[in-house]
Amino acid sequence: MTYAAITGWGKCMPPAVLDNAGLASFMDTTDEWITTRTGIKERRVSHVPMTLLSHVASMRALACAGMDPKDIDLVVLGTCSADEQVPNTASAIQLLIGASKAAAMDINTACTSFLYGLSTATAMIRTGVVRNALVVGVEGITPYMDWSNRNVAVLFGDGAAAVVVQASDKAEGVIAEKLGCYADARGILRVRGMGTIYGNAGVQLGDTTWDFDGQEIFKRAVHGMSRASQAALERAGITTDQIDLVVPHQANLRIIESVAKHCGISMDRVYVTVHKYGNMSSATVPVALVEALEEGRVKPGSILLTPAFGGGLTWCSHVIRWGDRVTPLGTTDIDLPPCMQTAVEIVQDIIKRKSSSSAVLQKIALPCG
Ligand code: UT7
Repeated sequence: MTYAAITGWGKCMPPAVLDNAGLASFMDTTDEWITTRTGIKERRVSHVPMTLLSHVASMRALACAGMDPKDIDLVVLGTCSADEQVPNTASAIQLLIGASKAAAMDINTACTSFLYGLSTATAMIRTGVVRNALVVGVEGITPYMDWSNRNVAVLFGDGAAAVVVQASDKAEGVIAEKLGCYADARGILRVRGMGTIYGNAGVQLGDTTWDFDGQEIFKRAVHGMSRASQAALERAGITTDQIDLVVPHQANLRIIESVAKHCGISMDRVYVTVHKYGNMSSATVPVALVEALEEGRVKPGSILLTPAFGGGLTWCSHVIRWGDRVTPLGTTDIDLPPCMQTAVEIVQDIIKRKSSSSAVLQKIALPCG
């Protein structure tokens, strides 16, 4: 039997920090509201395209695995904020890292994109289609945020992380998962302005408004993440007390606490990053995984649970058995170009560039939900 072990990991966080006070300097909000409703204190704002964040994270993951990029057979890039639609962003990563023999695909299931990508890579390794894969979770929400909408603008941030997944005869990597989607609720989290339907209606690229029913998303998220976790644990034949660490999607501390409670897992076994990065969509779980490893929270043989949800509303949970190695085999000097602006300055530049198509955006007839 072939398994798909995670043998390399690396992250790339943009250096510009936007804290709650920075947000309150140009938006009607307070640190107190954001902290008590979400647990978020600060988030990162990227000064570079997603391709560059992904490149650095990927090179760090490859160095960690001690792997020559030429041995990668597949690059899977999970994101809903790809730099381009055609060509896909995974092909840029294939080129930049020098994985000349690899197939390259983007996957978009919003915040669950990295985990759906991990399932895809794992399945392709287990069925013998490929032996070595690189799976990236990257998100640059800042450019398509509606900065006039305080309901959503305080919640998100940018970031990237990647893992190397390799064929193994040991029972490691994803040992069970459950994926699902509440498509009947797809309209409660929508970014209007991204996609051909908007371009055809004359909306200018970059103009976005968000449909966002926070309370309904909250309820569905807790339900989907808990349901997926129970199903994945059943499939793996293990109980919650055997889980060493939960590495959940990080949208809101209260969602994480509710899911932990539903699953009967105490918060000391849950890894949290939402206070410092906010919701980085598909990058949240891999960034949290990398930091949990860096802090020694993942031990040889640890069993991890990774519940997540995102637009769609997609949801999932994976049971991952870690291998023997929890330290990198190597490192790399590669890094981002320096950032010459503050986070507030980057956001202000984006706001200035956007024109307002919001009246048009609200009137566009959408085909489904
Ligand atoms: O990956 C998927 C991403 N989606 C999510 O994670 C969304 C999940 N939902 C949530 O996290 C929460 O529902 C929110 C954080 C979005 C909202 O928390 P809540 O406890 O459900 O707040 P609420 O909707 O009850 O609060 C609404 C009030 C409104 O004021 P009034 O009408 O009650 O006077 C808003 O205008 O809070 C106000 N408000 C704010 N006030 C200060 C909304 N956003 C802000 C803000 N600062 N940023």
